[in-house]
Amino acid sequence: MSKTFHITTFGCQMNEHDSEVMAGMLLEKGFEPVKERRDADVAIINTCSVRENADKRFFGTLGQLKRRKKENPDFIVCVCGCMMQQQHVIDTIKAKYPWVDIIFGTHNIHQFPELVDNALNEKKKQVEIWPDGGEIVEGLPAKRLFDCKALVNIMFGCNNFCTYCIVPYTRGRERSRRPEEIIKEVRNLVSDGVKEIMLLGQNVNSYRGDEKTDFADLLYRLNEIDGLERIRFMTSHPKDLSDKLIQAFVDCDKLCKNIHLPVQSGSSRILKRMNRKYTKDAYLELVAKLKAAVPGITMSTDIIVGFPGETEEDFEETLDLVRKVRYDSAFTFLYSIRKGTPAEKYEEQVAEDVKHERFNRLVDLINSISAEKNAQYTGRIERVLVEGASKTNSKTLSGRTDGFKLVNFEGTKDMIGNLIDVEITEGKTFSLEGRLRK
Ligand code: SAH
Ligand code: SF4
Ligand code: F3S
Repeated sequence: MSKTFHITTFGCQMNEHDSEVMAGMLLEKGFEPVKERRDADVAIINTCSVRENADKRFFGTLGQLKRRKKENPDFIVCVCGCMMQQQHVIDTIKAKYPWVDIIFGTHNIHQFPELVDNALNEKKKQVEIWPDGGEIVEGLPAKRLFDCKALVNIMFGCNNFCTYCIVPYTRGRERSRRPEEIIKEVRNLVSDGVKEIMLLGQNVNSYRGDEKTDFADLLYRLNEIDGLERIRFMTSHPKDLSDKLIQAFVDCDKLCKNIHLPVQSGSSRILKRMNRKYTKDAYLELVAKLKAAVPGITMSTDIIVGFPGETEEDFEETLDLVRKVRYDSAFTFLYSIRKGTPAEKYEEQVAEDVKHERFNRLVDLINSISAEKNAQYTGRIERVLVEGASKTNSKTLSGRTDGFKLVNFEGTKDMIGNLIDVEITEGKTFSLEGRLRK
């Protein structure tokens, strides 16, 4: 009987992709995936540390596994991901959850199969953390979540050290993959049926594949790949979004007309304290350039509310910026203190009730703009890459437009994985409703 596994993933697409790689490696070893964690021989928890509630959810999940481990000592528990790159987390696990079998970090997932073997065969408990990434390991398999679209890492790590953020400490310094490796991977994906790729990096604008390949050059090269239909990327940092990249939006027909451009705050004073290296005006200028060069481009962003020292005036600058940019959607976060980051030491932490009150005002504004923008789609024909069927009604399909809008419509299962023209019948706050063209 083959062994079974289950992976729980917290966090961003980097983690999602790491989980796909771990699944790929286990499938190669003959393991089988199971839907429920309680049915698995090996349970893997891939953690995120970006905000405190992510940490809390992880320890909650570990607590749940304790009983299962007691009932069946052969059950293997592996924990990995960003939290494991922090010594205080490792110390807590060793002290409070000593029954965890394998602990490993973000830089050595390629060692995962070996660690599992050791745990299964020799009952060996292991903690294997690399403090920073070495050479990039190429050629690891991956089991994709979707058949028609794939996540592709182009770089690892982050050098920006925004003062609130843990990622540079958990993912190490920036390292770019060579363009040939990326192109080879994408060609293989396309021959496996992939139509859309999402290029991943914490700051794709600082990609340097070799002396003559920056991020825009990479896009031009990927745009040449036959059979590939759509290219997306995330995340790009406003501080080094080049004119050359804006031109790539104009020139590359496969590059989707959509950009996620995290602003974090609309106050130049707060942006400086966050170490973001741009001002409100510089950001607005950049947005104006993008909108002028790429008519109809859709935009999303990330915003942190209640960064230490944020005053009502600072927050109003954020509201003002949101009104000016008119984002299609935005992720909003309450500032969360992260151990080891510079902002942890900042005085003037904003009171919880003030943070929440500002957060609600911001979300109301963002949602009203999203609803207005989506309402304008009514009657339009949009090309949708159909991703799957709804869990509750198999006739309801969903997919994304070029501009990354989620569309629900009635169709048949054979449409999944294809690009299909859909007539938009209604724009809601978070999605569009549509119907097939007669
Ligand atoms: N590299 C990406 C973001 C990675 S983290 C970028 O630079 O945009 C995703 C988002 O989490 C960030 O954009 C930020 O808005 C949010 N975030 C990061 N640290 C946070 C913290 N300490 N508290 C609240 N939100 C945070
Ligand atoms: Fe974090 Fe800033 Fe790096 Fe993004 S760019 S991962 S927010 S340090
Ligand atoms: Fe979380 Fe790590 Fe991503 S901290 S957001 S999983 S890079």
